[in-house]
Amino acid sequence: MHIRNADPADLAGLAEVDPIIEADPQRLADVAHAIVDRQAFVAADGSQLLGYALLHHRFFNNGFVELLVVHPARRRAGVGSALMRHARSECRTAKLFTSTNASNTPMQALLDRLGFRRCGAIDALDVGDPEWFYVSL
Ligand SMILES: CC(C)(COP(=O)(O)OP(=O)(O)OC[C@H]1O[C@@H](n2cnc3c(N)ncnc32)[C@H](O)[C@@H]1OP(=O)(O)O)[C@@H](O)C(=O)NCCC(=O)NCCS
Repeated sequence: MHIRNADPADLAGLAEVDPIIEADPQRLADVAHAIVDRQAFVAADGSQLLGYALLHHRFFNNGFVELLVVHPARRRAGVGSALMRHARSECRTAKLFTSTNASNTPMQALLDRLGFRRCGAIDALDVGDPEWFYVSL
């Protein structure tokens, strides 16, 4: 597995990793814009895309991982952790933030394993499923 910047030609492969890209025009636009802005990374095994992450630096002027998705058939093999470590190394600020729903126990377990610390919550985004924020210092 290797990690590299995403390329516009990756979009079709990313739709296999993340079916929401095809189902939700907003997700497609977010990923496409991040690729153009050089804010998207992919994990690949040869030509097969395994997962991707979007990193920007607009979270109160800090780095923020906005999305992390691993192909459903390739989970629990370290791909998500590798993408988060890559985002940490590419982050231009001392603190790297991310967030996930309170219901997303796999992502919380991954963040715990990587040493992220919970640092707040917003309960007005998804009703009944607060958004938990994490930071890596
Ligand atoms: C969350 C997600 C990115 C994890 O990716 P992954 O490649 O499976 O994660 P890793 O293999 O690096 O897992 C690292 C550790 O996290 C924890 N973990 C990951 N998935 C888990 C699960 N389903 N249940 C319990 N712990 C889990 C484990 O501690 C794991 O280590 P282990 O496999 O040695 O026990 C993946 O499940 C995913 O794409 N989910 C859908 C999208 C999403 O929710 N993204 C996050 C919010 S944007």
